[in-house]
Amino acid sequence: MADYETFQHDVLVIGAGGAGLRAAIEASVAGVSVGLICKSLLGKAHTVMAEGGIAAALGNVDDRDNWKVHFADTMRGGQYVNQWRMAELHAKEAPDRVRELEAWGAVFDRTKDGRILQRNFGGHKYPRLAHVGDRTGLEMIRTLQDHGVHQGIEVYMEHTVLSLLKDGDRATGAFAYERERGRFKIFRAKAIVLATGGIGRAYKITSNSWESTGDGLALGYEAGAELIDMEFVQFHPTGMIWPPSVMGILVTEGVRGEGGILTNNEGKRFMFDSIPENYRAQTADNAEEGWRYCQGDKNARRPPELLTRDHVARCIVREIKEGRGTPHGGVYLDIAWIKEKLPNAAEYIKRKLPSMYHQFKQLADIDITEQPMEVGPTTHYAMGGIHVDPDTQMSRVLGLFAAGECAAGINGANRLGGNSLSDIVVFGKRAGEFAAKFAKENQHGRTDNEAIEIIAREAVAPFERDDGENPYQVQKDLQEMMQNNVGIVRNEMEMKTALDHLKKFWERTNRVGVSGHREFNPGWHTALDLKNLLIVSEAITQAALERHESRGAQFREDYPNKEERFAKVNTMISKAPDGSMQIRLEALPEMPDYLKQVIEEMR
Ligand code: FUM
Repeated sequence: MADYETFQHDVLVIGAGGAGLRAAIEASVAGVSVGLICKSLLGKAHTVMAEGGIAAALGNVDDRDNWKVHFADTMRGGQYVNQWRMAELHAKEAPDRVRELEAWGAVFDRTKDGRILQRNFGGHKYPRLAHVGDRTGLEMIRTLQDHGVHQGIEVYMEHTVLSLLKDGDRATGAFAYERERGRFKIFRAKAIVLATGGIGRAYKITSNSWESTGDGLALGYEAGAELIDMEFVQFHPTGMIWPPSVMGILVTEGVRGEGGILTNNEGKRFMFDSIPENYRAQTADNAEEGWRYCQGDKNARRPPELLTRDHVARCIVREIKEGRGTPHGGVYLDIAWIKEKLPNAAEYIKRKLPSMYHQFKQLADIDITEQPMEVGPTTHYAMGGIHVDPDTQMSRVLGLFAAGECAAGINGANRLGGNSLSDIVVFGKRAGEFAAKFAKENQHGRTDNEAIEIIAREAVAPFERDDGENPYQVQKDLQEMMQNNVGIVRNEMEMKTALDHLKKFWERTNRVGVSGHREFNPGWHTALDLKNLLIVSEAITQAALERHESRGAQFREDYPNKEERFAKVNTMISKAPDGSMQIRLEALPEMPDYLKQVIEEMR
């Protein structure tokens, strides 16, 4: 075997966003040696793009809030197919994780009496999102990184993992390459935490950064982990749509939380026409009440723009399809209108939404304090991912843990905004804690040199195909195909077409060629990402086909209603011994009575 540089740690964390950093910190505090691999530079993970806030029932702005309300909101948002235990742990532990971030130096916005300020977000009954303007994720990463560097964590930046290594049933390491030089490396570990984030790059229009190619999901799947609820892909209602070069970039829900309204080309606030029955009692039926809610009036009900994301995104699509869209094919999001209400509106907007102000000014030449924005849905978040034990975050592969967006279960059919930033610290901490425990209880496994040679040969194969297809073209075509056939509105015919296309994409991927050599070669990196994108695309499509109903983020025009037989099941995907993708339905664990009671009380 070639003489690959080899590193050894007790715990190896793959991914340095909020979940990975929090896991690495916790494992390190437990006294084990920790290696942290990240695809880009430390500090540039996709978490920095999270804007509006971190959801935690601190009760600072409305003291009626507590973990029970947060739990009930999360379950209702997820349409009750969430793993209830994860939703429970998340709601109970999020406040401590936020206070911990504050103690580690995060500078949250403050209430007048000096406590952490919380803002409104869709589906949350009370103002619940602790925030730092609209740069919350950036502040969290800064804080976790500053804290983490003092823990003795070994960081391997700009490395991509090609495959996990196993000894029998156990994950025992990873085979990776250094992106700059293209050199292969072996990482041996007693326990591994996957924290690689999402899958947004499987679609053409996405808020996700270039790294979100589903790496962790594909690595876990290939190693024998199961994927759960892959059909549930969240399309955030508001991404930029103009100019084309910035299409998909996130426009935070914080804009609507601060009073922003959605209108069509007739100037109509169309969300008032579409309030679902189960949210009617909580939703304002007039503009005045909605505005009072955004200004903190505890007796007012939320404006319809703050209904859950799946619903708002579908209403926007309807307006566009029925010809009431904007010149560039979106709808208007207007925060400038608050001038009618606040004498210092422009200053208020710039203070509350500084990134949004600069984003639109610099990228679209729009002054959001004066003009409405044009927005449309953008692929934002995967509710599906690696199936893990709710308490320990271990997958069904021994020693393989997962946390954050690449793990799944807490969000069910639809995630509430702000719940991902709390998810990553709650379950990042748990994954780190239990990975360290596992590492202390187990020795290093054997390294399978033959398996490593096969992975290395496959990885360099594109260099041998001088006339192979361009990997960028395959990636672009795949993204377009997924956008068109497995997007916001789905049906059986289009998804079956997608599966046929995916077979051809596999063939094309096996024929891609790259020129040059392994150093500084982004074409090669793109070629290597394709396999991960294909695995997650196929998993999303299969799961979406299997769920013959509409629920949360999955809307099927051929099954437009919720169906009782799918009310208590998850879709589970795994790799069969013959290499094919297998899907099955699994019943949700029975919810204990004390949690059923919580949900009843909060109805
Ligand atoms: O709209 C936002 O700021 C996004 C937040 C989230 O997805 O949690």
